[in-house]
Amino acid sequence: MEKLIINGGKDLEGKIQVKGAKNAALKIFPLALLTKEPILVTNLPEIEDCRRAEEMLIALGHRVKKIKHGTVEIQFKNRTCINLPADLVNKFRASILFVGPLLASCQEVYFPHPGGCVIGAGTRPIDMFLDGFSKMGARVEILENNYRLTAKKLKGADIFFPKITVTGTESLMTTACFVDGVTVLKNCAMEPEIPALADFLNSIGAQIQGAGTPIIKIKGVKELKGGEYKIIPDRIEAGTFAMLAAASNNGEVLIENCEPLHLEVLWAAFDKIGVNYRLSKNSISILPSKKILSYDITTHEYPGFATDLQSAFTVLMTQAHGSSLIHETIYDRRLLFCDSLTQMGANIIMADPHRVVVNGPTKMHSRKLVSPDLRAGMALVMAALIAQGQTEIDNIYQIERGYENLAERLKGLGADIKRIKE
Ligand code: EPZ
Repeated sequence: MEKLIINGGKDLEGKIQVKGAKNAALKIFPLALLTKEPILVTNLPEIEDCRRAEEMLIALGHRVKKIKHGTVEIQFKNRTCINLPADLVNKFRASILFVGPLLASCQEVYFPHPGGCVIGAGTRPIDMFLDGFSKMGARVEILENNYRLTAKKLKGADIFFPKITVTGTESLMTTACFVDGVTVLKNCAMEPEIPALADFLNSIGAQIQGAGTPIIKIKGVKELKGGEYKIIPDRIEAGTFAMLAAASNNGEVLIENCEPLHLEVLWAAFDKIGVNYRLSKNSISILPSKKILSYDITTHEYPGFATDLQSAFTVLMTQAHGSSLIHETIYDRRLLFCDSLTQMGANIIMADPHRVVVNGPTKMHSRKLVSPDLRAGMALVMAALIAQGQTEIDNIYQIERGYENLAERLKGLGADIKRIKE
C-alpha cells in the first residue's frame, strides 16, 4: 500500500508547474465515441482518473495511443455496443460522461451507479442526467444499482437543471451535439472547463452557443471531425498550491503554467486576509506575508468560491488570526476531514455538516492520517507540510486520482516528503 511520509515545518520556496485540469481532461475521452477521426490530447495530466478514462475507452473497443508524456491520441476503432464495465464506472464520477455518447451511437447503454469521491449525499445522485436523457426520448430503467437506457433515436429537448450540475451540463451538452434537432439547456454550470469543452467541440464541427453562461443552445449535427485539444491548466491545483504557499510561506513560491483569471474569487479572498501575492498572465507569485487574517467563505458554483478549493482554504484558516466560518453548500461530507485537522491541533468547531468555525492560528503537529477523498487528501498533505514532526498519509490513491507526481513536485519547493510502497 503506497503512503506519503512528510516531515513538516520546512520553508517552501521555488517554482512549481501546474498540470492540465483533471476536470477538463476527463470530459474529452468520451468524444472518441462521437467521431471516427483521431483526437490528439495535449497537456494531459498523468493521473489515476485519466488512466481509468483511457481504460474505459479501450474496454469500449477504441484506441488510446501514448505519443509522449502528457500527450495521447484517442481514436474510434469500431462500434462496440456493450455495457460500461462496472469495475471502471465505480472508480470515477466522470465515467457518467460515457453514457450519453454510447446511448446516442448504440441506442442502448447499461451501467452501475458511478463512483469516485464519497463527498455527496449517499452516492452522488445522477437524477438530472437520467431526467435529461429521458427528455431526449430515452427509456430509463432503474434495476437495483444499475441503469439501462434505451432510445431508438434521441432528439433535441428543452432541459432545465433544478440544481447546477457540472458533469450534467457537460454530459447533455456533448450528447446533444449528436442528436437530431435543437437542445436548450438552462441553469447550466459555468465552470471554465465547460466553455473549453464547447470550444473544442465547435472546432470539430459541433454547433454550441452560450457555453460558460446559464443557457446553452446546441444544434445537433450529423458528424464530428477529429482535432487537437490542449487541456486548460488545473485551476484547483493552482489555487491549492497558492494556499499552501500562503500557509507555510517564508520564501517566494512561483506557480507557473496556470490561468489566474480562473481564480478571481481566491484573489479576492487573499486581498481580504492579507496574503502578499503577484499575478501575471500565466503565473502566481506568493511572497512572505506579515499576518494572515481570518475570513468567512461560502462555497458556490463558478465563479463563486469553488467547493474543490474549500478544504485547502480551511487548512489555511487554521493559520489565520481570528475566527473563520467555512460554509460548504455543495456537498454534505466535504467537511468531515476537519476531524483529522483537529487531531493535528487545529481548533475547529463543527456547527453542522455544512458549516465549521476555524479559530486560529494554531500550531499543528503530526499524525497518522488516511486520505478520505481527493481534495481532502491534498488538504491533509498541506496540513502535514505545515505541522511539526513526521506525518504519514495512507490511501494516497485518492490523492493520485488528481495530482500528478505530487511528492516530487513538492520536493522541488523544499518539502521533506516521500512516497513509499509498504
Ligand atoms: C464536478 O462534479 C467535479 N467533478 C467535482 O470535482 C466538483 O466538486 C463539482 O463538479 C462541483 O464543482 C468532475 O468534473 C469530474 P455536480 P459533479 O454534478 O459534476 C448534485 C474533484 O475533486 N447533483 O456539479 O459530479 C450533486 O449531488 C471533483 O475534482 C444531483 O443532485 O458535481 C451535488 O450536490 C469532486 N443530481 C451538486 O448537484 C445529479 O444528477 C453538484 O454536483 C447531479 C448532481
